[in-house]
Amino acid sequence: MGRHSAVWIDLGTGDGRAVLAAAAADARRLVIGVDANAAGMIEASRKATRGKLANALFVAAAAERLPTELDGVADAVTVYFPWGSLLRGLVTADPVVIAGLARLLKPGAALSILVSVTEHDRGSGLPPIGEHDLRGLAEPYAAQGLTITEVAPATAAEIAATGSSWAKRLGAGSQRGAWRIAARRSDAPRVPELAAERPRLTATGR
Ligand SMILES: C[S@@+](CC[C@H](N)C(=O)[O-])C[C@H]1O[C@@H](n2cnc3c(N)ncnc32)[C@H](O)[C@@H]1O
Repeated sequence: MGRHSAVWIDLGTGDGRAVLAAAAADARRLVIGVDANAAGMIEASRKATRGKLANALFVAAAAERLPTELDGVADAVTVYFPWGSLLRGLVTADPVVIAGLARLLKPGAALSILVSVTEHDRGSGLPPIGEHDLRGLAEPYAAQGLTITEVAPATAAEIAATGSSWAKRLGAGSQRGAWRIAARRSDAPRVPELAAERPRLTATGR
């Protein structure tokens, strides 16, 4: 990591396309895609190897059990259009998920989340999410060391800039709205660290 000017982690990266695009755009930056589903990242990982993108890395890990090697390394963390337990963890401010996110960031570093949960997503078990719900996250996020600096509708340009495959599938920004949450790591997470129970990396996806 020391060889790179900045480290960007994309959590819940899915097919890893956003990671490849970001790594190709700036060779000085290390871009790490993290997802609980290793299979989804295989193709991107192969492409990174074939394309000699030494600054793209893929890590199979759940947001609830992030490897300690990633603690405090990130200048920026993004979470684009999550689903499943990652989405639930973010919008219900699950302390394990939020503390894990906070731990990835260097002090003062930025977190950017884009979410879209509408009436169409009732099957997810979550109600539609709006501004009021997201503003209500300020306190529980702060309790884990994350200061929310902005909650705003995501513009079509912001969504396109993410390179998110899932946003395209959803029609986010055109057929449905999406929200952007910006936050910064303020101080050390206040939840007691259970380092002994957290996994260490044994292999990378590349
Ligand atoms: C809808 S996809 C979005 C992928 C990508 N960010 C995009 O915008 O195209 C959501 C991803 O979140 C991942 N995910 C869900 N729960 C997770 C968790 N607890 N930890 C890590 N990844 C998770 C899924 O495996 C899936 O790849």
